[in-house]
Amino acid sequence: MTIAASRRSLLLGAMALGGAAALRRPAYAQAAAPSGPFTLPPLPYAPNANEAAIDAQTMEIHHGRHHAAYVTNLNTALKDHGELAKLPIEELLAKLNEAPDSVRTALRNNGGGHTNHSMFWQVMGGTGEEPKGDLKAAIDRDLGGFEKLKTDFNGAGARVFGSGWVFVTVDRSGKLAIASRPNQDTPLMDGGRALFGNDVWEHAYYLRYQNRRPDYLAAWWKVVNWEKVAERYEAATKGTLKV
Ligand SMILES: [Fe+2]
Repeated sequence: MTIAASRRSLLLGAMALGGAAALRRPAYAQAAAPSGPFTLPPLPYAPNANEAAIDAQTMEIHHGRHHAAYVTNLNTALKDHGELAKLPIEELLAKLNEAPDSVRTALRNNGGGHTNHSMFWQVMGGTGEEPKGDLKAAIDRDLGGFEKLKTDFNGAGARVFGSGWVFVTVDRSGKLAIASRPNQDTPLMDGGRALFGNDVWEHAYYLRYQNRRPDYLAAWWKVVNWEKVAERYEAATKGTLKV
């Protein structure tokens, strides 16, 4: 091969690689999207860590594409709103009604999406044991025990029409309640806190469960990390739980 032909071959190879990268790059990843102030938190475990309930491919797509898109779109919405961009996300979401009309919906959907998923990754990676200690006592006191919690939570999750979330909320006194929200809304928007929650958007379960959301909800308890949830409970009662 001549030098010119070799160069041309390299160039074509680079173009092919660039083309392949462009094909892999999700449509939402605009070249000019700002890289902050928010960033995608890494998964705290391997994508197959929740295989007992959620397959690795779903985890990879859910985290690497869906959550990443919420972060990108949140940063884009904040690009020309420097004062809002300085706020901690939980404050931003609690003050959505003060945000300009032009970005309020984007902040609601993508700020909610970012915080909901950040919480979601944290509370999984477990082995399906049961809550203990103060957390167990609070579940017994406020939610009628662990079995009733699971039944009521699964029922609330199944009843979400379309896309949304089911949560157990916690207040500063440690009081728990089951609550669902549509779309990417979160208890943070009411100044509250989610202790834990499950994502009932189809993107969370469709590859393995297709339309069988109740089966997904029932299986999900196998991967809840109760130690992490207990840490969040303690933080909530100290006022240090952020999202
Ligand atoms: Fe999701």
